[in-house]
Amino acid sequence: MTSTAPSNARAHELADRFEATFGAAPHGVWAAPGRVNLIGEHTDYNEGFVLPFAIDNRARTAVRLRDDSTVRLLSTSGDQRLVEAATTALAPGTVTRWAKYPLGVVWALQQHGIEVPGFDLLLDSDVPLGAGLSSSHAIECAVATALNELTGAGLSAEEMVLLTQHAENAFVGAPTGIMDQSASLRGATGHAVFLDCRDQSVELVPFQTLEAGLVLLVIDTKVEHSHADGGYASRRAACELGAERMGVKALRDVAVADLQNASGLLDATTFRRVRHIVTENDRVLQTVDVLQTRGPAHIGPLLDASHASMRDDFEISCPELDLAVDTARIHGAIGARMTGGGFGGSAIALTPVQDEQQVRDAVTRAFADAGLTRPDIFTVTPSAGAARIP
Ligand code: GLA
Repeated sequence: MTSTAPSNARAHELADRFEATFGAAPHGVWAAPGRVNLIGEHTDYNEGFVLPFAIDNRARTAVRLRDDSTVRLLSTSGDQRLVEAATTALAPGTVTRWAKYPLGVVWALQQHGIEVPGFDLLLDSDVPLGAGLSSSHAIECAVATALNELTGAGLSAEEMVLLTQHAENAFVGAPTGIMDQSASLRGATGHAVFLDCRDQSVELVPFQTLEAGLVLLVIDTKVEHSHADGGYASRRAACELGAERMGVKALRDVAVADLQNASGLLDATTFRRVRHIVTENDRVLQTVDVLQTRGPAHIGPLLDASHASMRDDFEISCPELDLAVDTARIHGAIGARMTGGGFGGSAIALTPVQDEQQVRDAVTRAFADAGLTRPDIFTVTPSAGAARIP
């Protein structure tokens, strides 16, 4: 269950801090969550299926519109220098550091024909940075939700998903899909978001771990990654090549049974990339079915198979993620996999409540024995999507 009370208290504190900083009360506080992907990795830009959920950690933005075109941005943590910009002078490649996320949204709104006045913004986020939990999308979705309301743009959640994707692709420079924004904007307490990335249709699937005697542990390996780096883009290119060679619009259109023919059409590496996407789409459908018919205690083998596919076929895992997954499995988790884009970030481990401490201890010890940075381990539950905080 999400606790709205502490979240509201934190938002009220943020509003007070905003007033002390900018000299007037904000017009409101909007929050958007990070996400964990339960299963369905790199399938989103292949027009396939994903099953993420919104988590309790969120980005909160206190915002006040101004009468001019100046934007002033400040964050309560990390780099706390005030950033100033003009809404009239935004262009891809001109903004650095965290300001590119809110300003990317402003730019994308403008590209969409929406006029955005200047504003003051104070950000407070407890989504861990670089942990593969979509900290940047949480900021973008909070800002998009705020500006959608304040400008009266009236965009639907589906439109905001595409808008923030455009900000991320064209302004931030990361060629990512629509999964993270969809979870952040469309998530619901106690549910995973089963999203068809071809038409953006969503079905909320109950995912309540505690009722099943389980916890979902997130193991942040502390290996930082960026999807603006080459690995993500090269996987995307391999998928596009595979689809082209197989004569389909997207790999979504390839069935598991078609893989036999695919091996003759593709080079060995492209074949393995394609096989990951095709089998991963199938695993998402199976996971949804198992959750709806038998419950979370039965999805473990699908999580394990997903990890093996990402490690061996898509090659986006890393030694730290494999260590987290293998150690968690040996010490009691019933299924584990890396989550998110890969090359670092976090793993998830579905674990019986009574084995939680054992898994935590074992993973912490394994990292220490390997001379690695201590991982951060915490539990998550599916929580509500982006909204204004009353
Ligand atoms: C990142 C991207 C998403 C998705 C995942 C991999 O999180 O932002 O669009 O592609 O990687 O599933």
